[in-house]
Amino acid sequence: MREHADDRAGRPMGVTRRRALNIGGSLALLAATGLAASAALSRHPPATGAELRSAVPLPPAFRVPLPLPPVLAPVATSGGVDRYEITQRAADVEILPGVRTPMWTYDGVFPGPTIESRRGRPVAVTHRNELPVPTAVHLHGGRTPAESDGYPTDLVLPEGWPDAARPAPGGHGHGAHTMHDPRAVETRLTRDYTFPLDQRPALLWYHDHRMDFTGPAVWRGLAGLHIVRDDAEEALGLPSGPRELPLMIADRAFTEDGGLDYPALDPTLRGRPGVREPYLGGVLGDVILVNGAPWPVHEVDAARYRLRILNASNARHYDLEAVVDGGRRLDLVQVGADQGLLAAPVTHRSLPIAPAERYDVVVDFSEVPVGGLVRVVDRTGSGRTRDVLAFRVARRAADDSPVPDVLADDLPTWRRSEAVRVRELSFRAGRMRGGHGWLIDGLPFDPARSDVTVGLGDVEVWRLVADVHHPVHLHLVGFRVLSRGGGPPLPHDAGLKDTVSLRPAESAEIITRFDGYRGRYLFHCHNAEHEDMGMMANLEVT
Ligand code: C2O
Ligand code: CU
Ligand code: CU
Repeated sequence: MREHADDRAGRPMGVTRRRALNIGGSLALLAATGLAASAALSRHPPATGAELRSAVPLPPAFRVPLPLPPVLAPVATSGGVDRYEITQRAADVEILPGVRTPMWTYDGVFPGPTIESRRGRPVAVTHRNELPVPTAVHLHGGRTPAESDGYPTDLVLPEGWPDAARPAPGGHGHGAHTMHDPRAVETRLTRDYTFPLDQRPALLWYHDHRMDFTGPAVWRGLAGLHIVRDDAEEALGLPSGPRELPLMIADRAFTEDGGLDYPALDPTLRGRPGVREPYLGGVLGDVILVNGAPWPVHEVDAARYRLRILNASNARHYDLEAVVDGGRRLDLVQVGADQGLLAAPVTHRSLPIAPAERYDVVVDFSEVPVGGLVRVVDRTGSGRTRDVLAFRVARRAADDSPVPDVLADDLPTWRRSEAVRVRELSFRAGRMRGGHGWLIDGLPFDPARSDVTVGLGDVEVWRLVADVHHPVHLHLVGFRVLSRGGGPPLPHDAGLKDTVSLRPAESAEIITRFDGYRGRYLFHCHNAEHEDMGMMANLEVT
């Protein structure tokens, strides 16, 4: 079901096109590629992927204390710019109690150190690559000039790595280096990334984005948080200090010797990309980590807390709820989305979160008896993957934090009538490199091809169509969800998003204005295995 080339280029408003979504056809294609027998479709739950089983004894839930990632101190602040340095290096990290796990890290820790920044105050980060493979760092959710956006071929080469367009030593010539990208800007050993951070306050995250190898690199530990703040948000008086908790949720699996398990075709991640057949739909682990600890527990006051939740998993979706002993559920009062505060709070009983999405949620522990346990569980998990983390209410406490009825008045209100173009883009299984792939409009990613070109300042509506679950992410811009399955958006679609979770056989419409910077950006599925197997496309802002 190859699309016509002019479909990719978009079409003017008013030109209608009728096309059956042909979901049945794409599922048949999936079957034809041998995926149907695998976990991707035979498991009905919302997870797209197959689960690895750890071969090491796992700790009981809710015993390990919740770690908080260290906040990075700038090495200099001059000319209104905060300068940071991060070294990407291999390190042994204690994830499971008493077990050393070799990982690839930012500064030796997982999650990487958190960067705290202020809106409009630029941050410069010098990354030094001491890993055995090239890297690219992307600030997810950042409004970043293209040269610092971590395009997948803008690599930081480690010492001794051959230059562009030559195969990696020992590689099978299958990797990024055979797909020549004339626009790639490579650096050796270090690279300076500059982030103007002229954007709404939000929880962002940085992670590796190397072409073909993002999934395994993030799985090995290359992910960290970046929080943007401003005065207006602080003036709201939402829970703060020890009552504001960043929570990076990620599943992993462990080998017998304590290492991370991942079904890479080439475990050195130097040559041939891709994963073994049963995992083509995505890699799931059987251990749920929060801030790098398995099923942790955190002591809280009987008061309101602001939980800033990121799903940093490669492929696992969660549907989170907070359950008190006895089964009562606490309200999850959503105050923010991927790109910052909502206009007004939205109360949920449970909250679905796809890979790369963030939710900013206030939970009130004041009615929970001292000593009580509040378990955050994933309604779609089973067995041990049902548990995520827990809060132990340790003491009564005063609480004057309000949740204001109005949170923000600066949310963009783009209207359909402002859109200069409506595009339709499909996210479906297909074939690439003679094997299974995940395609956007029938094509696997090619850095040298131009896919979508938008004018700086243009408002566009994109209609995204999926076969199975695909969390679709746009670089550079935040967007609003206009519709889902032809109906209104879901309650958790509120606010400004940068990732929208398409459900199986679903279409959704998003609207945005492409402003900020010109240059070459990306949009892609944030199931990291789908992304590595082709489901990414170029977004050129001109
Ligand atoms: Cu979180 Cu293009 O990535
Ligand atoms: Cu991004
Ligand atoms: Cu996908």
